[in-house]
Amino acid sequence: MGKIKKSITAAPEEIESTPEEEILLTSLRAQVWDDFCGQEQVKESLKIAITAARRRKEALEHVLLYGPPGLGKTTLAHLIAKEMGGSIKVTSGPAIERAGDLASILTNLEKGDVLFIDEVHRLNKVVEEMLYPAMEDYSLDMVIGKGPSAQAIRLDLPHFTIIGATTRAGLLSAPLRDRFGVVNRLTFYQPEELSIIIEKAAFKLNVPIDEKSIGEISKRARGTPRIALKLLKRSRDFAQVRGQGKIVSDLVSKALDMLEIDHAGLDSADRRFLLAIIQKHGGGPVGVETIASTISEDRGTIEEVVEPYLLQIGFLKRTNRGRMATRAAYDHLHVIFPRNDTQEHLL
Ligand SMILES: Nc1ncnc2c1ncn2[C@@H]1O[C@H](COP(=O)(O)OP(=O)(O)OP(=O)(O)O)[C@@H](O)[C@H]1O
Ligand SMILES: [Mg+2]
Repeated sequence: MGKIKKSITAAPEEIESTPEEEILLTSLRAQVWDDFCGQEQVKESLKIAITAARRRKEALEHVLLYGPPGLGKTTLAHLIAKEMGGSIKVTSGPAIERAGDLASILTNLEKGDVLFIDEVHRLNKVVEEMLYPAMEDYSLDMVIGKGPSAQAIRLDLPHFTIIGATTRAGLLSAPLRDRFGVVNRLTFYQPEELSIIIEKAAFKLNVPIDEKSIGEISKRARGTPRIALKLLKRSRDFAQVRGQGKIVSDLVSKALDMLEIDHAGLDSADRRFLLAIIQKHGGGPVGVETIASTISEDRGTIEEVVEPYLLQIGFLKRTNRGRMATRAAYDHLHVIFPRNDTQEHLL
């Protein structure tokens, strides 16, 4: 059975959850393959790769999982390790600072182990280059000693699997990306899939919830299990403190208000972003860097957290001249849509 052998670093910084929430979310993490709902294509591709590797009695090929935060990359990594029967070691790109750190991690792996590298796009160049032969030939090139007596040696490593996770696949260098044999992109969940996740989690938390509330949470969770679970937890707090213990839809509304999530599932950061485009930049097109400075938000956060969902629901368009708010975004934010030539195609 796969287990966490040693946590090399703490869990990477979570964009939206406090530490206690994360503990609760972790306790809700899918423990078996069947508990992981949705992402059917990803699961299928992983299952095939896992079965093939097991039949050949080889380590699984290196796996890259990418997609917006909270969609299940870390959860999948743990499930894969469990399925392969090896241990999982957890680290992250920025935590491996020097070549020596990587060497010590790799030489401590055993055959069949999984090394999970979160934020794999943040590995530094020296470490990344040392990883290439390790991924390709399971070997490690090191220089021992200094000056004229320095000696280059090559160490053989056990056959292991790297699972890399990133919210920013575009920032991965081509040579690194190419060394992952199995590459999967996680996409936003459908409300029906989130409903199942919420129902299962409510059962695990032992909190009764009605159908309407499940539907409400699943529609407003931004296609993201982490947000759905967070909404469930807040609703449970309300149910226990202000209600009769059961989650009913007006308690869900209170939780949504508290988290400033509106009817389309947008949070305050999403609205600030869209309003900046509409009110400060005439609806666009405007460059992402300019919007970032208008709302004092980090460009990376905009690109990896805010934009993917707005693009998906059709509130935002990316053009080669910059970002544009669509008619649906104007309507949602109750701003009158200015009809002019440049925006005609966004109707
Ligand atoms: N398909 C799923 N079924 C059930 N629960 C899920 C699913 N996907 C994610 N979750 C739950 O959502 C939460 C967030 O998932 P996870 O931490 O794996 O996301 P992530 O993609 O690694 O996010 P980040 O990019 O922020 O690291 C966890 O509590 C996890 O149990
Ligand atoms: Mg993660």
